[in-house]
Amino acid sequence: MQFPENKKKLIQLLADGNFHSGTELAEMLNISRSAIWKIINGLEESGVEIMAVTGKGYCLKRSLELFDKEIIDSYLSDESKTLISTIEIYDQIDSTNKYLNDLAHSNSDLSGIFCVAEQQLAGKGRRGREWVSPFGSNLYFSLLWRFDEGPASLSGLSLAIGVAVINALKQLGVDDVGLKWPNDIYSQEQKLGGILLEVSGESNGPCSAVIGLGLNMFLSDESAKSIEQDWTDLKRIQTDKPQISRNQLLACLMNEMLQVSKDFTTKTFSAYTNQWREYDCMQGKQVDVFIGRQTISGIVKGIDDEGLLLLQDSSGKVSHYASGEVSFSKS
Ligand code: BTN
Repeated sequence: MQFPENKKKLIQLLADGNFHSGTELAEMLNISRSAIWKIINGLEESGVEIMAVTGKGYCLKRSLELFDKEIIDSYLSDESKTLISTIEIYDQIDSTNKYLNDLAHSNSDLSGIFCVAEQQLAGKGRRGREWVSPFGSNLYFSLLWRFDEGPASLSGLSLAIGVAVINALKQLGVDDVGLKWPNDIYSQEQKLGGILLEVSGESNGPCSAVIGLGLNMFLSDESAKSIEQDWTDLKRIQTDKPQISRNQLLACLMNEMLQVSKDFTTKTFSAYTNQWREYDCMQGKQVDVFIGRQTISGIVKGIDDEGLLLLQDSSGKVSHYASGEVSFSKS
């Protein structure tokens, strides 16, 4: 789950985005140039784009800001520090959600654990989809939080987390973002991120929730070619603004997520409904809702007080939907 020492050192050296000759790298790591070449190949397989130019050496196509525990800590609020029991950062993992789900099954008392990964090998999206998770340039992380009540008390939690995500983005100057029911972070009708909530425990409580967030900061066309939805990333929507620090954004998201998780023991979704409605980017839009094999078309009328989708059909009737996949109508 952590890269071998030389692979880690190499990516740290290349992260600055400058050219480094094979000879220089080989000397720094005290290994042969062919060993460097092999590691470079492995990094490319992880989705890191590297240029090799004769006479100049190797250079990343984009500089990387790798996760740094100290920088993350420096942006965490005092309250967050009291709520977090550990932050585990991995170079590679199958899925941060899966890791924490397994941990919760092994010990149901655990809470306040973040799992953060530079790369996911089997990132999970909703509805069995894959979450594309190349190395080093996006955010993939999950929080394990234990609740005293049963899973039914968590109705609306994933929507409230959506509000937390938008609040964190706005704090760092990302304004052109909204929520697409139920759990998507959207910008300009394209998906920027998604939330995956998985809950385990007895029906009458307590229960453990794993709240996973994937947020695209920079996704290359090559990495994204298997994504079937319209997608975007922060780089594309923030063209005229300075690049946001990955560690700072992560910490900001952690602060907001922890606050909602902590408060959800006493508050319910009603505390977040107004903000969710303010951030709703589907309100008034013509959409298709896919439920199983059924497709229902209509105009989005927002959400009800429980967070269910309100959809008006062509006869004017408004129905409430608890689940389904919504897409903007193309016609
Ligand atoms: C969606 O389909 O919209 C939900 C995507 C959730 C992806 C995140 S990335 C971190 C965490 N670990 C996973 O395997 N999935 C979630």
